[in-house]
Amino acid sequence: MKVISIINQKGGVGKTTTAHNIASGLRLKDKKVLLLDLDAQCNLTFALKGNNNKNIYDVLTGKLNILDAIENDFIAGSQYLVTLQNKKGAEFILKYILQKVENIYDYVIIDTPPALGIITINALTASDYVIITTTADIFAVQGIKLLSDTINTTKKNSNSYLKIMGILITRFNSRTVMGKQFHDNINDIAQKINTKLFDTTIRESIAIREAQAKQKDIFSYARYSTAGRDYKKLVDEILANDKGVN
Ligand SMILES: Nc1ncnc2c1ncn2[C@@H]1O[C@H](COP(=O)(O)OP(=O)(O)O)[C@@H](O)[C@H]1O
Ligand SMILES: [Mg+2]
Repeated sequence: MKVISIINQKGGVGKTTTAHNIASGLRLKDKKVLLLDLDAQCNLTFALKGNNNKNIYDVLTGKLNILDAIENDFIAGSQYLVTLQNKKGAEFILKYILQKVENIYDYVIIDTPPALGIITINALTASDYVIITTTADIFAVQGIKLLSDTINTTKKNSNSYLKIMGILITRFNSRTVMGKQFHDNINDIAQKINTKLFDTTIRESIAIREAQAKQKDIFSYARYSTAGRDYKKLVDEILANDKGVN
């Protein structure tokens, strides 16, 4: 089982959209995938028409067994996630809990909150890989350095196996000069933090918003839209990457 977290402490950079569509795309490749909403805003839970009666907060705090929290290969988020306390050893809770599903799933995909607190540290500690999503703008680019520091600290303290699979540009508009400039810029940053920019970029596409309003993933809503094709290409790239290191 491989655990992949979708990370960026900035909001609006396509984390939730990417977590949702990577999971759906991997399932279309016959992979068994558990999707996990670790964000107190619960956008992913909404996108999946999930409900919070059984949620990851209750699992992390020991009130609910993970096997009882899974519905349709998904574990819902909870607004109470923000109250999770950063006690000694708290960063290992999710890693420990996920061991119980190790023999059931090929992949666990984790959607994370726009913050670098104990929730995100739990995700990083439990992960084999992180995918950094970013938009091609200056504030998003500036944040990647801080994010890389957090990843390095996690590697040192609680997960020496953690790898950055790559940086993914989302909501991309290649027609603007700015877009192209930032693409090159982010490529440089990727090299500086010892990772790569995914060959795939996810273009800005109205179909993404429409799919989300209809609570569908991009493949069942509009598989041949630009975003549908981009996410398919990304899933192929992820599978090739994962094979490459095994
Ligand atoms: N490729 C895309 N094209 C158009 N809109 C997008 C795309 N990706 C994400 N969005 C929209 O941008 C907003 C933020 O995306 P989201 O995945 O929720 O980001 P995050 O989880 O990082 O906050 C959402 O309204 C979403 O519908
Ligand atoms: Mg989100």
